[in-house]
Amino acid sequence: MGAAIPTAANRLPVIGHGVQLARRRTEFLASLTEVGEIVEIDMVGMPAYVLTDPDLIWRVLVSESHNYLRGRMFDKMTEVLGNGLATISGKAHRDTRRILQPTFHKQQIAAYAPIMSSTAADVAESWRAGQAIEVDDAMNDLTARVVNGILFASDLGAAAADAIQRRLPVVMRGMLTRTLIPGAWQRLPLPANTQYRKAIEQMDSAIDTAIAAYRSSGADHSDMLTTLLSLKDETGKPMSDQWIHDQVITVAVGGIETTSAALSWCLHYVGTRPDVEKELHTELDTVLGDRPVELMDVMALKFLGRVVQEVLRLHAVAVFMRRTIGPTQLGPYELPAGAEIIVSPYTMHHNAHWFPEPARFDPDRWLRPETQNLPKGAFIPFSAGHSKCIADNFAVLEITLALAEICRRWRLRPVPGQAVREITTGATRPNRLAMRPEARGRATV
Ligand code: HEM
Repeated sequence: MGAAIPTAANRLPVIGHGVQLARRRTEFLASLTEVGEIVEIDMVGMPAYVLTDPDLIWRVLVSESHNYLRGRMFDKMTEVLGNGLATISGKAHRDTRRILQPTFHKQQIAAYAPIMSSTAADVAESWRAGQAIEVDDAMNDLTARVVNGILFASDLGAAAADAIQRRLPVVMRGMLTRTLIPGAWQRLPLPANTQYRKAIEQMDSAIDTAIAAYRSSGADHSDMLTTLLSLKDETGKPMSDQWIHDQVITVAVGGIETTSAALSWCLHYVGTRPDVEKELHTELDTVLGDRPVELMDVMALKFLGRVVQEVLRLHAVAVFMRRTIGPTQLGPYELPAGAEIIVSPYTMHHNAHWFPEPARFDPDRWLRPETQNLPKGAFIPFSAGHSKCIADNFAVLEITLALAEICRRWRLRPVPGQAVREITTGATRPNRLAMRPEARGRATV
């Protein structure tokens, strides 16, 4: 007999913990640390096990990962991502990851730096002092332009880039709801369901058109789509159009909202914490003076790096999942075949044992020895193991360059009267972030 697994409190008949998951998701998940190192919850009739212990997380993601496939959340994502890297398991995942890895190699990512900093400069230059900016929308626009710029450098991809930019937010909202809500609801002709389907169709068809146009042009556009078209499988055959389509949409889904959420939170803290702003501005003035940020500056922007790290901790992804392949021993616990496991970076990062005063934004906690020596599995903003975010270095570079480029020009001040709170879609984002730019003395705007 395995050790007993506690169940989260306040489970209701039929809907289980559906209310907590729908209304107070991050708060509910973070509260489970007090209940046990593994806690059963009821996702509207479907049991799932939330892990709150770093060692159990490490076993599932890394040392015993052969016992698990992707979970329910990824089944739902398959509707949109097909056989993209983020949804497949086992050999298909290993093969696809091997083929795609060079596209995200450090050297390749360095080549993306100019697009990242020039896009941020464009966005920052389009602002006027005193004008109210919806910063969360502006950051979504920025990260979509970066991903689109890297995917499609040619005009042949312009319609696909536009469809991704405009339709992806609808798709992201729909995917999360579908993970948490029973299947019957999803088939009803409700406006949310119709909009979701239409947004997917529009993105799919625009991406297919871009792939066909690139193939028939045969030119090297020095972008990710050209690279994807040149890749071969182990038998030397070019990858199919459908395979390329699925990877393109996976990069868009994985790369836009997550990064824009982190950037928005960084700007929120810089704009509301004078101590953080002062230290950041001093660092930017010392390292950059009046010139734009470049790749070579990243190592020197140490405080900025801690701001990013602390945002990745405090506003981490709420949930991703795994599923047991067969009956599984996880530490002292026995899990049945097909058990849905929830890994919540958010929950791990709000554990007061590893992160004292976990709700406090404190970039300098990363200088303290106890935070530098965390156990494996305690800090997992990008997951761990063979399915760890393939673009973790890409994301950190993009956030760093954009934050430097925006903050060297502007002080952003919150528009009074708004309460900024967390909402979770694919990422954990601010509900709304209206701010006004004020010019800084040093850089030209
Ligand atoms: C702050 C930004 C980001 C965060 C917090 C983040 C987080 C994550 C997490 C937690 C996973 C792993 C899920 C798992 O283990 O099952 C993941 C996977 C992935 N992410 Fe990211 N991500 C970010 C940015 C990006 C960017 C910029 C891209 C692409 C340009 C991207 C593409 C992917 C892909 C393709 C996967 C699937 C990897 C695999 O299964 O092998 N992500 N991401």
